[in-house]
Amino acid sequence: MDDSIPQLLTYDDAALDTEFTRLTNQVQVDVTFLNSYEDRERFRLDWLGRKQGRLKLISEAWLKSAPPEAKKALGIRFNQLKQKIEAVLEAPTTASQESAVQGIDITLPGALRTPGIPHPLLKTMHEIVSVFHHLGYSTNLGPQVESDFYNFEALNFPPNHPARDTQDTLVIANQQTRPSRDRLLMRTHTSPVQIRTMIAQVPPIRIVIPGKVHRNDAADATHSPIFHQIEGLCVDTNITFSDLKGTLDHAMKALFGSDVKTRFFPSFFPFTEPSADVQISCIFCGGKGCRKCKHSGWIELLGCGMVDPAVFAAVTAERRKINPADDAYNPEKITGFAFGMGVERIAMMLHGVSDIGHFYSGDMRFLDQFA
Ligand code: PHE
Repeated sequence: MDDSIPQLLTYDDAALDTEFTRLTNQVQVDVTFLNSYEDRERFRLDWLGRKQGRLKLISEAWLKSAPPEAKKALGIRFNQLKQKIEAVLEAPTTASQESAVQGIDITLPGALRTPGIPHPLLKTMHEIVSVFHHLGYSTNLGPQVESDFYNFEALNFPPNHPARDTQDTLVIANQQTRPSRDRLLMRTHTSPVQIRTMIAQVPPIRIVIPGKVHRNDAADATHSPIFHQIEGLCVDTNITFSDLKGTLDHAMKALFGSDVKTRFFPSFFPFTEPSADVQISCIFCGGKGCRKCKHSGWIELLGCGMVDPAVFAAVTAERRKINPADDAYNPEKITGFAFGMGVERIAMMLHGVSDIGHFYSGDMRFLDQFA
């Protein structure tokens, strides 16, 4: 940077233009070095500083000693230079080099903004939910901090019943003084939203419930203490086990391809009777048997069953607190089915992911593959 302010020998327009062009060029050069706040501050002091700033020195060296007839021409050029410097300081840092003094270089590549993508788990959830939306289901959500009543009791898990041991529960602290049905916990499944929905709505009901659930499980390649489920509930007159089979068979074919077969195995859940585990023919070997299906040809994917009359009874007891004559869920007239599936497991199968932890790691090398 050249700090010297030369002596002006003449004050004619040509001489003034030469000097001010030189100064403007100097500003342009300085601007290309403005990369930080400190650079800009140094630039400001260098040109506009009250005592030693160049404009101050120029004003002293040239303006004061100028002959009266040259003062106007000098003043105009002086103000133009000052405005340029101020414009540099007002421009946003990154744009200052380009726009304030040099103009915009349209040959530079644009700033690339990569749009975000849905997380693979959310994408899988949307895919599953949309299969059921096409069947006329709507979506319901519920809280992750849930009461014992909704998560267990109304679903026919009595207090201290061993069935609770299958869902190792994370409980909220300091609840011992509350009645057991009001104690808070992290919901272990999405099934409590079945109860919330039935208390609030009369049949016919067709809903899917996607959401986060929590269990006190140690993390390994296939387990995570926080994971996702999608629950389904269909309640109406004349709903049979055949409807359940047909619905889930269709859903599995829609998700995994029309070649996929399903089979239903007897199982147990306190809130469904009869209950079943659903298996699909192995999507990796087509059912011939491979390492992925442990050479059985089948992969277990979800739980389901017909809504247990005890669940309707719990719902009716709640509804009767508001309307003692309520009979919307009379098990003589109303039946239903429910199902629940793990989203991670399905996403891992669809995308060949071998470790559940990848979904939560935030590692861009993993996530980028779904863009
Ligand atoms: N809530 C059960 C679980 O988390 C799954 C399920 C839902 C089973 C609905 C049957 C009916 O294990």
